[in-house]
Amino acid sequence: MDILKVKNYEEMSKTAAEYIIKEVRQYPSIKLGLATGSTPVGTYKHLIEDHKSNGTSYKDVTTFNLDEYIGLSGNHPSSYRYFMNSILFDHLDISKKNTYIPSGVANDMEKECFDYERLLDRRAGIDLQILGIGSNGHIGFNEPGTSFSSKTHLVDLAQSTREANARFFSNLDEVPDQAITMGISTIMKSKEILLLVSGEAKSEATKQLLAGNIAEQFPASILRKHTNVKIIADKAALAEIRVHS
Ligand code: GLP
Repeated sequence: MDILKVKNYEEMSKTAAEYIIKEVRQYPSIKLGLATGSTPVGTYKHLIEDHKSNGTSYKDVTTFNLDEYIGLSGNHPSSYRYFMNSILFDHLDISKKNTYIPSGVANDMEKECFDYERLLDRRAGIDLQILGIGSNGHIGFNEPGTSFSSKTHLVDLAQSTREANARFFSNLDEVPDQAITMGISTIMKSKEILLLVSGEAKSEATKQLLAGNIAEQFPASILRKHTNVKIIADKAALAEIRVHS
């Protein structure tokens, strides 16, 4: 894994955006894997600014998001569909029909999982996957204990994850108990992964990721087996680890 140490959240966001923009310009029909949460928001802002000032086009780009809450339709302000539309897609020239997010309200969730996985396979997978990490090591919504061979599936959210994400809802009770997420093996099929980590709250997770065991109890640890992972982490996230900057 290549680790790039940056000063702070802003520098992480700018560096990540520059990397993504370079890829999009070089491969206009790139397939991007996208993440939600607070971590990538700054990166997305830079993509929008660049689109507006330099005209980088997303008209031939396809995106696949990692996950969605069960029970929330795309109109729900706390759904990941709503989040992605409002913080990114609505501000680019991307065609919404090329932005895929698993549905949290499909009648047959088993079929939805199967179809999402098949869609990714048919499209020959993701070229560049953007990832954040949960404090407990989750990637997407793959909580500790998820099988490394998992495909797109339904998960019960850990209480700590519900609490961490309660800030996107009016109160904790509103945070769904379940989500649909790409599995670990789905994520690992991406040709390249860009993991963004920022802040002191992630320093334990970062240490565990870089120096702990590769174990299903810490889902992100599997990334050490991927041959093309770049980590952009700020000083605070790397506080517990010695890295040459
Ligand atoms: C959520 C998302 C993850 C994200 C993680 C970290 O649970 N499902 O994809 O990486 O939380 O979020 P944040 O960036 O807000 O710390």
